Amino acid sequence: MEIKNAVTFDDVLLVPRVSKVYSRKSVDTSTHITDSLKLNVPILSSNMDTVTESSMAIAVAKAGGVGVIHRFNTIEAEADEITKVKREQNIVIEKPYTVTKDYTLSRLLALTTDKGVSSFPVVEGKKLVGMITRRDFQFEENGAKTVGELMTKDVITATKGVSLDDAKLIMQKGKVDKLPLVDKNMTLLGMITARDIMLYDGYSNASKDRKGRLMVGASIGIGSDYMDRVIGLVKAEADFIVIDVANGYLEKVADTVKEIKKRFDIGVIAGNVATKDGVLNLKRAGADAIKVGIGPGGACLTRPVAGVGYPQLSAIMECSRAGIPVIADGGIKKSADLSKAIAGGAAAAMIGGMFAGTDESPGAIVTKENKNYKFYRGMASVNAYSDRAVRIDEAVDLEGYTPEGTERLVLYNGSVVKIINNLVGGLRSAMTYLNSRNLKEFRKNARFVGLTEAGKKESKY
Ligand code: XMP
Repeated sequence: MEIKNAVTFDDVLLVPRVSKVYSRKSVDTSTHITDSLKLNVPILSSNMDTVTESSMAIAVAKAGGVGVIHRFNTIEAEADEITKVKREQNIVIEKPYTVTKDYTLSRLLALTTDKGVSSFPVVEGKKLVGMITRRDFQFEENGAKTVGELMTKDVITATKGVSLDDAKLIMQKGKVDKLPLVDKNMTLLGMITARDIMLYDGYSNASKDRKGRLMVGASIGIGSDYMDRVIGLVKAEADFIVIDVANGYLEKVADTVKEIKKRFDIGVIAGNVATKDGVLNLKRAGADAIKVGIGPGGACLTRPVAGVGYPQLSAIMECSRAGIPVIADGGIKKSADLSKAIAGGAAAAMIGGMFAGTDESPGAIVTKENKNYKFYRGMASVNAYSDRAVRIDEAVDLEGYTPEGTERLVLYNGSVVKIINNLVGGLRSAMTYLNSRNLKEFRKNARFVGLTEAGKKESKY
């Protein structure tokens, strides 16, 4: 049997070439992760429960990438995270949370905490009759007072379809920062907030959907309830679905792609595979992009446990020859790895461990010997397996469960924005070395050179 040699990121370097691209600032890092989904930054955050819920997805999308919400929760909880992202930066909130006049202040305060918003249009049926904002109740101590007593009755409104500039003028003139949208019968049709306008103006790089809202992906498995989950996530308006299965070679994965594509007009990213055959199988089933990576991830045990895998850079290079966007999933530990993954043919890279120690990842900061950490775990670890079972109210059966993921503490290191900036900074630098103004040129111009042990040492690998 012939045995091929394959390489991963630290086995090679990118070879520089004569370049006319002087400035890192002038290069374009945009990419298509499917035919219709474009990102300004080729980065996805991993669908793992210690990496991506709404906070991470919001931060990554604002920075120009996209987050994929994990599936290790109930359908409702996952859909809720999608909704939070969709509401984050929305010039027109189409369905603002509303209250009625009979709400007591105590009930209103509970709603404020639950929904994370403090201004509500007050309605009778569908008709707008007032606004209640923090200013109306911040010093009120009597929790039994009603919204009807506390609300502002003369509400400044605009008609639906008002332009962004006109909305700004109306809010400036009326000295308000919430603008309900109504028709001539005062039927509430939406709301614009000053905060959202400011955010919108400030995030020109952000990944946005057609309605100007932040983009977000949602993941599913192939268990018996997968179609219910897809229905819930499509309803919550996820921009694409990721079929998150460690072994993307299972026939059920291709069948799942087919079923979803039959029923919904939504992008499907399927995986994980590590060979061109695996990619072609999922492409034939109708997938729009493929996730590549069997065992390269920082919390992965697939290779030591099963002995199966493929060195990640070779896997990316082989898989990206199948004529469909490939997402390099796992093993990115520094900006050089991202550069090599993209140069090797990936449309984008998915990142877990590097993002796990940030403000935006789920979970609390843990302090140990005067250092701050956050928890990171593989989704096939014992802990993740049993926590998921508890969340979705399933029996935990650890007998016969062979974990293929590890659990560890990762150093806490502030906001994910800083990490993304560093990753993209490295990629931009590599592009200038390779005379590439955009990622298409970067892939075309890329040549790798192999490293000896001494070469690795010299490269600080
Ligand atoms: P990094 O290296 O960025 O990798 O931390 C993140 C990716 O690792 C995959 N993943 C796993 N792989 N066992 C595995 O073999 C696991 O328990 C596990 N959990 C996550 C996943 O593809 C993720 O995006």
